Amino acid sequence: MNLSAVSSKQYPSEGYPEIALLGRSNVGKSSLINTLINRKSFARTSSTPGKTQTLNFYNIEDQLYLVDVPGYGFAKVSKKQREEFGVMIEEYLTTRDVLKGVVILVDGRHQPSEDDISMYQFVSYYHIPTLIVATKMDKVKGNQWNKTISQVKKAMQINQTDGLQLFSSDTKYGKEEVWDWIEKHM
Ligand code: GTP
Ligand code: MG
Repeated sequence: MNLSAVSSKQYPSEGYPEIALLGRSNVGKSSLINTLINRKSFARTSSTPGKTQTLNFYNIEDQLYLVDVPGYGFAKVSKKQREEFGVMIEEYLTTRDVLKGVVILVDGRHQPSEDDISMYQFVSYYHIPTLIVATKMDKVKGNQWNKTISQVKKAMQINQTDGLQLFSSDTKYGKEEVWDWIEKHM
């Protein structure tokens, strides 16, 4: 079963490993979940940022939960709500023992934001294995892909034990590689 939570009492209790998706609002977290599981609207997506507002746990064949997390850096929610999101995400990331890794999505078209960099520093501090995924690569010309790679590597200072993968939910580029990483860490 899938479920949503705003606090630890509501997290699933089966003990399945969890992989969480982090990233700015509208970067494509929910779309990535749909791509991974070949469904169009399993996780709800929207062109309006701020669609995902709770921790959503998607049960993958009773073996794994993919956890869709509200995006950061979304200006239109109130300050109070942003603080509540922050507390909810921090509580999850710092206390969840079945959390095996996180995927941080960045927009492959742009420089990683300060929020992206802070988020990566935060999960690194807690030694959470991380895959950085640069998404929306269908919008980046082929001759610019190396630039995206060097831009993200330089801004994020990726640890040797973590990974970087280019991805597109439109073309499904990188899907197998993201699955391989998840399976290695669950
Ligand atoms: P929040 O729930 O607001 O945090 O957003 P999210 O990160 O879950 O983003 P979502 O998956 O809802 O996608 C936001 C918008 O980007 C939608 O209009 C998607 O169709 C679009 N999008 C997501 N991934 C891609 C991609 O790989 N390529 C392109 N071209 N568009 C994408
Ligand atoms: Mg979402």
